[in-house]
Amino acid sequence: MRVERRPVDEVESRSANGPDWDRYADEYQATHGSFLGDAGFVWGPEGLTEEEAGVLGEVADRDVLEVGSGAGQCCRWVRSRGGRAVGLDLSHRQLQHSRRIDDHTGLTVPVVLGTATHLPFADGSFDVVFSSFGALQFVSDIDRAVAESARVLRPGGRYAFSITHPTRWMFPDDPGEQGLTASQPYWDRTPYVEVDDETGEVAYVEHHRTLGDWVSLLAGAGFRITRLVEPEWPEEHDRVWGGWSRTRGLLTPGTAIFAADLG
Ligand SMILES: C[S@@+](CC[C@H](N)C(=O)[O-])C[C@H]1O[C@@H](n2cnc3c(N)ncnc32)[C@H](O)[C@@H]1O
Repeated sequence: MRVERRPVDEVESRSANGPDWDRYADEYQATHGSFLGDAGFVWGPEGLTEEEAGVLGEVADRDVLEVGSGAGQCCRWVRSRGGRAVGLDLSHRQLQHSRRIDDHTGLTVPVVLGTATHLPFADGSFDVVFSSFGALQFVSDIDRAVAESARVLRPGGRYAFSITHPTRWMFPDDPGEQGLTASQPYWDRTPYVEVDDETGEVAYVEHHRTLGDWVSLLAGAGFRITRLVEPEWPEEHDRVWGGWSRTRGLLTPGTAIFAADLG
């Protein structure tokens, strides 16, 4: 596998990332499942929970959609609080894990296989749409993904999502000291691409938007931003997750959580 920075469109991003998440799902759940909790809601590697952050607002008796729901941990937390949460994910294998945990916990999350840019729901179906590191940094057509979430929300509905903090794109994705030296321009939106050496095909893609891009995207889709949460790394927290670590987390933000209301 070789790493490149080059433009990748929506079809190519989806064709790469669906199979990639299918391949990675077993390892992902084995590695991070206990940290996430079968019915837990964690916004990112810092361990900030929705219980602590209250980004979604009231979920009891609300219709809630998680875009990029993975194994449904966050949806299960919402359902345990009385919300009618449903999940959507691009990866069949992630959804099989969701079903496995449903059976194990007795807390069932209705899920659908799909993509953030074509939500298979009627206009105005939900009070809350959210993603916890799900979908948004994997799609190329981000205008369409944000517009789709706006479409399925009711007027006044809450949209909330966590992503890799945009400032992290300046640094190598290294949890150690090397990950603290800026080496590429913050403003370079060229996607991060992994290419299969043997086939030459794109195998994985991540897309970058600056903080300013996110403000423009949300405002352009009719949202009013209400919060930007930048979770602090807890002093005693010593877990490494990819490029996230205590070494970097005590100095630079690793996660950004946006909350915005429609209209
Ligand atoms: C880091 S996981 C986050 C899931 C869950 N919140 C968690 O913390 O485990 C990202 C998820 O986004 C899904 N995903 C990637 N691209 C997507 C897309 N275009 N539409 C919907 N889901 C997508 C992946 O399959 C994966 O399950």
